Amino acid sequence: MAAIARAAFGVQHLAKGVSRLSNVVLAKGRGSYVWTTEGRKLLDFTSGIGVVNLGHCHPRVTQAAQSQLATLVHGQVAIAMHEPMLSLIEHLKPVMPDPSLDTFFFWNSGAEAVEAALKLARAATGRQNIVVMQGSYHGRTIGTMSMTRSKTIYGAGFGPFMPGVFTSPFPYCTQCAVANASDGKLGFSNCCMDPLHELKVLLKQQSAAADTAAIIIEPVLGEGGYVVPPDGFLSEVRKLCDEHGILLILDEVQSGFGRTGKYFAAEHWRVRPDIMVMAKGIANGLPLSGIVSRKELMDRQTPGSMGGTYAGNAVACAAGVACAQVMREERVLENVEERYVWISLVSTGIALKGLGSFRRSEQLFDALEELKASPTAGHLIKDVRGLGLMIGLEFNSPSFPTVTPVDDVPKGIAARVQAKCLENNLLTLTTSIYETIRFIPPLTVSEEEMKLGCDIFTRAVEDVAREG
Ligand SMILES: Cc1ncc(COP(=O)(O)O)c(C=O)c1O
Repeated sequence: MAAIARAAFGVQHLAKGVSRLSNVVLAKGRGSYVWTTEGRKLLDFTSGIGVVNLGHCHPRVTQAAQSQLATLVHGQVAIAMHEPMLSLIEHLKPVMPDPSLDTFFFWNSGAEAVEAALKLARAATGRQNIVVMQGSYHGRTIGTMSMTRSKTIYGAGFGPFMPGVFTSPFPYCTQCAVANASDGKLGFSNCCMDPLHELKVLLKQQSAAADTAAIIIEPVLGEGGYVVPPDGFLSEVRKLCDEHGILLILDEVQSGFGRTGKYFAAEHWRVRPDIMVMAKGIANGLPLSGIVSRKELMDRQTPGSMGGTYAGNAVACAAGVACAQVMREERVLENVEERYVWISLVSTGIALKGLGSFRRSEQLFDALEELKASPTAGHLIKDVRGLGLMIGLEFNSPSFPTVTPVDDVPKGIAARVQAKCLENNLLTLTTSIYETIRFIPPLTVSEEEMKLGCDIFTRAVEDVAREG
């Protein structure tokens, strides 16, 4: 009863503009689980939207933050440097996707860091315009809202927006009308690359290259639906940027720090950003974000033009150092991605897959693919996609916006499945304007926890299929 009253108090006094998956009140978190004040134990496949990548309250991160709290909480960046920030740079530099990325600026939230990237791009190029991708999400400040194209809800009623933002399509083959009409000839593994063509046209018809400071891209669309670009897309964008002196900004706020099985998603395609944006997983829950670029670009900014009262807070930086240490020393990435050893019997020409251990990414993919192939629920599922533990499952839908409506699929299926998962103590998130569930468990999730989550999800989909 007291818990219900407490939830009602929150509903009464918290801003209505924040939407919530549930009105439970969280009391504690540990590893892959959170507990409510009523004692309910929920398996968390959201990681607080891709933040607690090392699980809730990782003991080494907690210990580092506690110890820093007792040492120096606030070392203001305009007054002095502080040791945790310098140590954080030492820990981050070796895991950057390119050695040219050697100069850092830390802030608090992802949106702030995107704003910092935009400021740097404008200051360094002397150009104003920015190109964003259809389906992108960059934050909720006026600047980042102006650059967000995942859902109109984020901007509706809040205009006017920042001028100088131009939108180019992201290669989303699952919802591409041309690919869907091609009888399987075109698609993710054989993309027509029309979005690249459109980007080139944009630079001819809308924003002259000489006026374009940067193209900003999430290497894997987050809020836009966990969409992985086809091979070749990002490297072609890189080439286009080089041709025109445009900077490439990669927003790795959600895809970064191990989420896709590599430290940063850019590594999957060996693409070098000029500026990279980081947040979320870099401090496992403490508010910390940052941008990194090459010194030559960063040095084009006037001293005093960057900063912020809490920029790179010492406690958050100390947590960030512990995160980087845990990632390396506890070999977290190996829990995500398969690590098979291929034994090639050269003489016979046979390659055997062996000595491998079964990893969580593959475990989750296998469970979702099995569901997609099942006679009971397979017809509901359009696509399973992702990298590492950034995996999306897109349902079919009977109506717009999908380009291929399917009649016998319940309306609002993703939200219904999500609600059933919650009833059964599994937290999941939907994403995008399409009927999509995203899976973002902690990167430290165990095999048993993954199995439990997959079982709950499978049952939820089968229940919705049965109920119609
Ligand atoms: C790719 C991306 N960029 C920027 C942001 C904004 O981050 P924050 O909510 O910390 O401001 C998010 C948040 O989800 C994100 O996913």
